[in-house]
Parts: sequence; C-alpha cells; structure tokens
Amino acid sequence: MTIILQTRRLSLRHLEPADLQPLFELYRDLETRRYFPDGARTLEETREELEWFRRGHPRHPELGLWATVETSTGAFLGRCGLLPWTIDGVDEVELAYLIDRRRWGEGLATEAARGIVAYARDVLRLRRLIAQVTPGNDASARVAVKAGMTFERDHADEYGPCRIYAGSLEAGGSVGSA
Ligand SMILES: CC(C)(COP(=O)(O)OP(=O)(O)OC[C@H]1O[C@@H](n2cnc3c(N)ncnc32)[C@H](O)[C@@H]1OP(=O)(O)O)[C@@H](O)C(=O)NCCC(=O)NCCS
Repeated sequence: MTIILQTRRLSLRHLEPADLQPLFELYRDLETRRYFPDGARTLEETREELEWFRRGHPRHPELGLWATVETSTGAFLGRCGLLPWTIDGVDEVELAYLIDRRRWGEGLATEAARGIVAYARDVLRLRRLIAQVTPGNDASARVAVKAGMTFERDHADEYGPCRIYAGSLEAGGSVGSA
C-alpha cells in the first residue's frame, strides 16, 4: 500500500481493488455527483476510473486521485488528489476533492486539500495549482478558497462552464499559507 500523505485525520493512498464498492457507493449518488458533467457513475465506469488511477495517473504517476481514508477507523471517506490538464494550451495541475456525503461539513475536504497543497509544494515542487469549480458548487469553491486559492477566471470547454480558482505555490504565493 502506497501512502501518499497524511493529515491529522486522513491518510491518502493509491486506490486499491477493495475500494471499488465504497467508491461506487459515492459515485452512484446523484447528489454527490451533481456538479460533475458526466453525473453519477455505473459500477463499470467506477472500476475503469479506479484502474486508471491504481498507480497514480498513468502519464504523471506522481499525480492522481487517491483513496482518502479516516486513519483512526480505516473508513473510506472519498477520493482527493491532483489531476493534470491542458487548459488554453497551458499545462495545469488541478486540486480535486470528493467526500462521502454523510461526512460533509466536518472540514474533511479542507483538511485533505491543505495536505495536498503542502505535498504539491514541498514534495512535488509544483509552482501553481488550480481548482475547476462548476458554477453553483459553492462548497467546492469554499474549499478552494480555504486551501488558499482565489477566483481567477471563467472558462468553458466540452465539459461545460467552470470557474477557475488558482494560487501560486512559490515563495510568497497564496496557496498553502492559509
Ligand atoms: C465539495 C466537498 C468536497 C466539500 O467537502 P466537505 O468535507 O463537506 O468540506 P469542508 O467541511 O472541509 O468545508 C466545506 C466548506 O464549504 C461550506 N459549504 C458547504 N456547503 C455550502 C454551500 N452549499 N454553499 C456555500 N458554502 C458551503 C462549508 O460551510 C465549509 O466552509 P466553512 O468552514 O467556511 O464554513 C463536498 O461537498 C463534496 O464531496 N461534494 C461532491 C463532490 C464535488 O463536487 N467535488 C468538487 C468538484 S471537483
């Protein structure tokens, strides 16, 4: 088992086959997937995504979506991580988070996001992170801000409109200093 990083309550590690059912329980939930352009996921779609990220992102193994587990109980609470995108011809790394709806409002996404920001800055030495927030997903925007990002611009692509939040990880940058 590869642990990527730990925070006070959370362990983030590579996804494993045994995560399929708990991940599917989150992905099948319409409310949780409300702001995702492709909506809820089938078991097969969930399996494909899990396999895609088993050893990190295939083209950028240091990035990926990671199982987000409560360290004290071992409960699977969601998946969070870093995703590579090319937006308007520019390579970007997106901070992504999804938490079990039964545990919303406990500060877990904020904790994971801040841990990932520190990891991106101190271990991966990334210079910038973004968050892509679907209009209306105010909780997601709030997590981005609490992780140190600010609204940068509106954007639209084949997935629809999104609001790009961003922050610099370089010395004096906003992200991670919150
Ligand atoms: C976005 C998400 C990860 C937040 O998870 P969480 O663990 O509940 O987040 P936290 O408890 O760390 O913090 C949420 C913040 O958003 C605020 N918030 C929650 N719902 C909100 C809403 N509808 N409008 C405005 N703010 C809201 C909370 O009050 C909190 O801010 P505060 O601490 O200043 O009060 C969770 O809602 C989720 O998994 N959503 C579905 C997946 C998703 O949309 N992910 C983002 C797209 S990549």
